[in-house]
Amino acid sequence: MTNVNLRSNAVITAIGSYTPEKTLTNFDLERIVDTSDEWIVQRTGIRERRISADNEFTSDLCIAALRNMESRYPVNLSDVDYIIVATSTPDSILPSVASRIQAAFGMNRCGSADIQAACAGFTAAIQLANGLLLSGLYRKIIVVGAETLSKATDYSDRTTCILFGDGAGAFLMEAQQDNEAGDVLAAYSDTDGSGGHHLYRSSLSPTVGDYELTMNGNIVQNGREVYRWAISEVARGISELMQESGLSAAQLDWFVPHNANQRIIDALVVKLGFSPEQALSSISRYGNTSAASIPLALDDAVRAGQIKPGHLLLLHGFGGGLTQAGVVIRWAI
Ligand code: UT7
Repeated sequence: MTNVNLRSNAVITAIGSYTPEKTLTNFDLERIVDTSDEWIVQRTGIRERRISADNEFTSDLCIAALRNMESRYPVNLSDVDYIIVATSTPDSILPSVASRIQAAFGMNRCGSADIQAACAGFTAAIQLANGLLLSGLYRKIIVVGAETLSKATDYSDRTTCILFGDGAGAFLMEAQQDNEAGDVLAAYSDTDGSGGHHLYRSSLSPTVGDYELTMNGNIVQNGREVYRWAISEVARGISELMQESGLSAAQLDWFVPHNANQRIIDALVVKLGFSPEQALSSISRYGNTSAASIPLALDDAVRAGQIKPGHLLLLHGFGGGLTQAGVVIRWAI
């Protein structure tokens, strides 16, 4: 007999990740630009980052992250019916990275799309996948956050090149029928497009509004402005997300902010009332990996056995746009 209260819920059923082999340390950077390990560690918390090989692109990192997922969970990716990739560094504008994943795994009747929401991309993609699953339109969705930022970094600009690294992290999200609430418990998004010129990667248009861009296809950032926005507006956004979820910092098990800069994470922790141990960060080893940073930090903690089924997590991405997106999820695996 059908239970009338039965409805589809979106559940995260597997995670996987991948980072390239090559490591670029602060000491390596000392030989490239006028900087020091001491400055980088003090101002950002970063000690090293991973760099993709010349012939390794974002789709390769995504595929490796999904192979990693397959090796750890009893999953079958062949009947996935939608693929969403969040990235600002796709192999090409078209075809999409998501369609390269379909080609690698051979899913039948599978939708695919890349989304571009910079460092808010992974959490924005979770929100979209959640909506597609709850609507009943799709049953099984791969969500990947992946970047090869090193391929869009100006290694003569010491204010940005010390930050960025490469990597990929992925969730499998599935519609499941039960009486429990789904894994995504609350969501929050906000955008201030008037600050778009503070963090950009140029493509066709030479301007954002009245602002003239450096047209070299590399990432350009006004670090101080983005930092100021993160400490004020992103802190406000996370606080609204917590209110929306009805959960206080003490009731949440883990805080997983975008790993942009350890100083930003530390400031958010203090402002929002988390304890430092609740904040997951892998920035010292991977640097700022934009859309990949949240799943990378999360998966390191999963592999270390820190995150347990039933734990409550707040994930919050923020960056270029300027935009931010967050979700509160219950970990089920
Ligand atoms: O992921 C997307 C979102 N992005 C972010 O959230 C990033 C937000 N911003 C930041 O993380 C920081 O602003 C940076 C790490 C990018 C820069 O740190 P900062 O503490 O804001 O430094 P600053 O830009 O205010 O520069 C301070 C000084 C300057 O020298 P003067 O003008 O005071 O003499 C810079 O020229 O540090 C200098 N500087 C450096 N010195 C050594 C800038 N970069 C370097 C460097 N090594 N790599």
